[in-house]
Formats: sequence, C-alpha cells, structure tokens
Amino acid sequence: MVNETQKAFWGGDVGARWVEMAPFLDATFTPVTHAVADALGDLSGAVVLDVGCGAGALSRVLAARAGQVHGIDISLAFLAAARARAPGNADYSLADAETDDLPGAPVDAIASQFGMMFFTDTTAALANLRRAARPGARLAFATWAASEVNPWFSVPRALAVAATGPLDSDPDAPGPMRLRDVDGTVALMRAAGWQEARGRALDIALPQPGTLEQVAYNATRVGGASSVLGHYQADKPTRAAVTGRIAQAFAP
Ligand SMILES: C[S@@+](CC[C@H](N)C(=O)[O-])C[C@H]1O[C@@H](n2cnc3c(N)ncnc32)[C@H](O)[C@@H]1O
Repeated sequence: MVNETQKAFWGGDVGARWVEMAPFLDATFTPVTHAVADALGDLSGAVVLDVGCGAGALSRVLAARAGQVHGIDISLAFLAAARARAPGNADYSLADAETDDLPGAPVDAIASQFGMMFFTDTTAALANLRRAARPGARLAFATWAASEVNPWFSVPRALAVAATGPLDSDPDAPGPMRLRDVDGTVALMRAAGWQEARGRALDIALPQPGTLEQVAYNATRVGGASSVLGHYQADKPTRAAVTGRIAQAFAP
C-alpha cells in the first residue's frame, strides 16, 4: 500500500490540529488560495478537482467560480470539516490522488493548495491526475519554496532547534519542502504527461490574523517548529520560551 505513512500522519494528531486551526490557516493562506484559483483562468461551468482538499478552503473559492467541485483527501477528519462547510456545488470523497479512480473524471481542471508534496511517487500521482483530466484540462497547484526563503517555516524552526536540539529531515522525502524546486517540479509534470507545464516562484506575504502572541503560539503548532517541539516532547516552559522568541522575531 502506498502513502500509508501520510494517511496515518494526516489522519492523526496533525490532521486534528490542522482542522482545529483551519480558520487561522485559511486566513493565513488566502493569497495562495486566490493565486491557485486565478491560475486556472475562467472556470464558468467547469468541473474541478481539489487534490488534498483538507478542510476545504480552496474548494470553497473554486465553488464560487466553477460549476462543480470534487474535493478529495486521505484524511477523514479533514473531509468531515470540509463537508461541514460545503457549498451546494462541492462534494468531498476519501481518495488517494496517487492510486485511486478520481471523482468527476474526466474533469475540466485540477487544483491543489499544499496537497501535492506528500505522494510516495510524485510522477505516478501526476500521471493519475492526468488520466482523470479531459484533454486540454488545466492543473494549478501551490507548493512551498525552500525553507531558506520561507521565514514562516525557517524562523520558528531555528528557534525551536535552539531551545531543544537538532532534528534531521530530508527535504526530498514526502513532506512540505519536496517540490521546492520549480524547474524540477516542472520536469516531473512533463514526465507525467502535462506537456505544457510551467512554474514560477511567487513571493507572497502571509497575513496572519490575531495578536502577535497568538501568531507566535500558532507557529509552534504547525509548520517548522511543531515537528521539532513534538520530537523532543518539549514541556510547557520550553514551548512558552520558544513562543516568546518567535513573537520577538516576528514583531517586525
Ligand atoms: C498541508 S495539507 C493542505 C490542506 C488544504 N489543501 C489546505 O490548504 O488547507 C495537505 C493535505 O493533503 C492531503 N493528502 C496527502 N496525501 C494525499 C494523497 N495521496 N491523496 C489525497 N490527499 C492527500 C492531506 O490529508 C492533507 O489534507
């Protein structure tokens, strides 16, 4: 079975935390959501697939522009959250984008916000998506840039490491940084049959809602710091100290 590790990851504590934090994360990622939807062009009447739909933020924006949206995810917790806020023209299914037959096929367009970096075999997943798309369909997705140019990841992570210890992670393994290289990602897309694929780096500010303290606290719960603090089972005083340092670093 492929993607079992990711199913356990997103179906467990991490998925539950993301669902709980969905209002904060959805607001934070709003510019990304609109960049992805805009990249698909005119969606009037279109049938669109949202890959790794999570709690449905991108699906809801797509549904306002398209005829029908099918969101797929491997996490039941996410799907329940998405269904709770589903517009009338959006539905959500448990499906693995890499291996399963996908709803609505052949679809007119495919979109994803941070849902494409977790496959066992990215090319196989892109080829499966290609099979689910009608000829001429568009695919648009957002992935994270390298952590060196991503302070939302790198700053909290560095402060967590300083307070606890180092944590090795392979950026090429399934995970948030895997598709950080634009040219490499375009090459994978072309190999999977998306022959006119193009990619570009966008420099986007993330408008995080709430007070500085809330933003800093949230930065210990998802993103770069959370895996380090979780790995070291950091206690409350350590977490509070890291939160304070993140607040100082994020203040400007
Ligand atoms: C970082 S979250 C992003 C969620 C949502 N798109 C958002 O922007 O809030 C990644 C999502 O991809 C889903 N995912 C990971 N691997 C998947 C796969 N093979 N097929 C479908 N969904 C997958 C996860 O369950 C999770 O909901």
